[in-house]
Amino acid sequence: MHCWSIILAAGSGTRLSAATNGVKKQFLEWKGAPLFWHSAITFSHTTRMRGLLFVFPEENIEEATETLTKLDFGRRLGLPWKVVAGGARRQDSVYNGLQALPSECTHVLVHDAARPFFSTALTNTLLDSLKAGTQAVIPAIPVTDTIKVTENNTISHTLDRSTLRACQTPQGFDKKMLIAVHDKCNEEGWEVTDDASIAEQAGFIVAIVEGEAENYKITNPEDLTMIESKQVAMPVPVTGWGYDVHRYGEGRPMKLGGIPIQGGPQVVAHSDGDVLLHALCDALLGCMGDGDIGEHFPDSSEEFDNISSGVLLNEVYDKFLQRGYKLTNVDLTIIAQVPRLVPWKPQIKKNICRMLKLNDYQVNVKATTEEKLGFTGEKKGIKAVAAVMALRS
Ligand code: CTP
Ligand code: MG
Repeated sequence: MHCWSIILAAGSGTRLSAATNGVKKQFLEWKGAPLFWHSAITFSHTTRMRGLLFVFPEENIEEATETLTKLDFGRRLGLPWKVVAGGARRQDSVYNGLQALPSECTHVLVHDAARPFFSTALTNTLLDSLKAGTQAVIPAIPVTDTIKVTENNTISHTLDRSTLRACQTPQGFDKKMLIAVHDKCNEEGWEVTDDASIAEQAGFIVAIVEGEAENYKITNPEDLTMIESKQVAMPVPVTGWGYDVHRYGEGRPMKLGGIPIQGGPQVVAHSDGDVLLHALCDALLGCMGDGDIGEHFPDSSEEFDNISSGVLLNEVYDKFLQRGYKLTNVDLTIIAQVPRLVPWKPQIKKNICRMLKLNDYQVNVKATTEEKLGFTGEKKGIKAVAAVMALRS
């Protein structure tokens, strides 16, 4: 079984638009990401999912793809994904998605991005059913209201509630079958609101698994309270560590934490040789899973010749903040036999607080010697280490 999910996010959200200033519901922010992203994350937690196909409105496709690329930085989803433009009706969007699935795909889950609260467990139940051989399977829950059929604003008749089910997505299908019934649907001109309806009308058996009460579809303005009340984001703690060394010798005047250390030995460096800021940059990159300072600012590049390390730190830190990280504390240690750093520590600390916009209690600057041992002990060079802790929202 090779299963992809189609995440439908190509609707216009008409019923909700007055309450959202025209923002389509699939793009509403929830827990720091657009609604459609949450379905992607839930699918990505299922090891049997092999890829995701996003369907966006034609006019938003570029922007949405850019957003997705940013959100999936560092391959957070761990899945290949594709993007296609939707159509006028939901069924047209599904049709476009089906055409774009890779040929090795054998099964598909079709899901409304407007339902961000379904669970990985539900996904697994659907996949189990497909694996067992069902051609179509959908989640459904019993209805609690009495449902009546109306005519001209009066009751025509009452349905037997015990046989009624409210149907949800994701809906699972054998891919070949779903494509075939969609073709038939287009030929016959059927109008449907979900894919199970097409399979039913084409005469296929659609199996039911227990749906989830939580799995609402955000549809009307009052539904917005569901994402507001679930707004509490759980930040994830992350740590980073950095280490850097510079040799003493004819080169640059010594700088530490952006502060010129008058009377200190010169350091050999391509940039301004601020060993402490380099370690700090590496620690921030460590939190983000984004490589090291050498990759970002290669010392083979003219551009970075004698560049202020403060500029490099600003660039790394901007990226850090933009990606939703918040520093909680920074712990720095400089290791050198010479110069004596005690007099410089308060100034260095103050400057780091300023650059990172942190409070005094969030930054610590330590200095130590290595008791005349090793290259620092022999006064051949200097090293620094940085440990940082941050929260990712
Ligand atoms: N959808 C889609 N393409 C369409 C219509 C709908 O991909 N042409 C998607 C929606 O983005 C949504 C899901 O199908 O995730 C369910 O549709 P619905 O709740 O009706 O959303 P909208 O059509 O966007 O809302 P409305 O009907 O209020 O305009
Ligand atoms: Mg609709």
